[in-house]
Amino acid sequence: MSESLRNAIGVILEAGFQIESDAFKTLVELGREDSLRPLVDELLKVAGSVEPRPLFISSDLVLKAAEKLELAGNKPREVGTSLGAERRFAEEHDSRLEVVFDPTGKLGTMGVFDDFLRYFRSRFEKMSQLFRHRIDTRSSGTIADAMAAGANGRGRFVCMVVDKREKGNRIFLTVDDYDEEAMVLVNDSNPGLWQTARRVSRDQVLFLETRKSSGKLLVAENMVLPEIPDHRPGRASEEVYAVLLSDVHVGSKVFLEDTFRRALGWLRGEVGDPNQRDIADHVKYVLIGGDLVDGIGVYPRQEVDLKIADIYEQYRLAGKYVAEIPEHMEVVLIPGNHDAVRQALPQPAIPWDFAGPVYDARRVVKLGDPSEVRLDGVDFLLFHGTSLMDIISSVPGFDYRRPVEVMEYQLRARHLAPEYGKNTPIGPEVEDWLVVEHVPDVFISGHVHVPGSGVYRGTTIVNCGAWQGQTDYQKRMGLEPQPGLLPVINLQTLQVRMIDFRSE
Ligand SMILES: [Fe+2]
Ligand SMILES: [Fe+2]
Repeated sequence: MSESLRNAIGVILEAGFQIESDAFKTLVELGREDSLRPLVDELLKVAGSVEPRPLFISSDLVLKAAEKLELAGNKPREVGTSLGAERRFAEEHDSRLEVVFDPTGKLGTMGVFDDFLRYFRSRFEKMSQLFRHRIDTRSSGTIADAMAAGANGRGRFVCMVVDKREKGNRIFLTVDDYDEEAMVLVNDSNPGLWQTARRVSRDQVLFLETRKSSGKLLVAENMVLPEIPDHRPGRASEEVYAVLLSDVHVGSKVFLEDTFRRALGWLRGEVGDPNQRDIADHVKYVLIGGDLVDGIGVYPRQEVDLKIADIYEQYRLAGKYVAEIPEHMEVVLIPGNHDAVRQALPQPAIPWDFAGPVYDARRVVKLGDPSEVRLDGVDFLLFHGTSLMDIISSVPGFDYRRPVEVMEYQLRARHLAPEYGKNTPIGPEVEDWLVVEHVPDVFISGHVHVPGSGVYRGTTIVNCGAWQGQTDYQKRMGLEPQPGLLPVINLQTLQVRMIDFRSE
């Protein structure tokens, strides 16, 4: 018996209660090192409020206390119940999965000059449309109108940033609206405006309010990002969960096989405390956000980090893991930059030639990157996150250890890769599919190997983390991953929990 458990029992006995053996078992199951004392305090409160005052602490009382502290699920299960004997909640729940958007089959560009012109035009049109739907930016003119105004005359227009330069505290933006080009000055006399401008990148589309100088320069007075509106997200009518899995990196020397196997065991109802098993019973969807395998030749000298140097063998092994996901769950798979598919965004679904063993292993909904799905009425935007490091390296104030802030930036810019021409290749397609046209209820990514979650204007943001330890490459780059934490989202409440599989 651990010291903290011995102390906890002492506190209960001192308060004048005896403990039933089942209650003791439940305490051991639910109370971890850090949550045991709060659980006991709550338990004494709960027991003290029962009339007549009980002599014995029962397992029910422990569960009630745990529920109040949210240590147990909404429907606490009796400890010791044989989990395999009855049908699990999600087995009875019909799948409600709709594919809303998938780039697969829509892609194909020669990358010729005209394609680029068309691509940026599409971005500009889509963004202009977003601004036209907003009350505060609906009535706008053009850059030409702003330039035609006399000294101190006002202008309001949608524009694309084609260049950005900083000189001391002054930021100069060259902007274009497909009709006219202008130079816009942002100075630090308005700190809020200046901060926004510092984080703006080339190729981003903005709404500007300006004042004309006596020369050709426009001076920015207000800058409006495309933004997402504050909204009420869709919710499931029943308590079902989606598991948000990403960056498994099968084939890597530092793929955390045991940790990942524990997570699969949990999905099957074989691993975890009663509360965690209760969640597993409610899992209907498993979303895999890319980098399922480690791939080959993804970065210089990757071969030294590989345990399996054959891409087909990597997918064969990945197929074996995917086959272990219970049959009643829906699996959705998108590619990442380590998968065997074109690298330019958007990426189509991983082709059969490579991922065949995964698709043969069980039913898999295979989609491109990015994709949109609706699960039990909740709209998901799935994006591997390949562009996250580009944003982190070029926009001030971001850190890969706080990926949620970067994803919030993408939502505010309404674009998944705002700046063209960084490390992440972007295919100049007929349409810019990387514009966030539909406001998602849940926005998920991976890629940075550090999990996190947050909420921005009604959209739940989750980064899924990873199942790979630190590679030599990451060591050289100074990147410290945080693998082994699995985010799960309750589709009825949109609450996100991280299930820790890092230790037994
Ligand atoms: Fe990854
Ligand atoms: Fe990645």
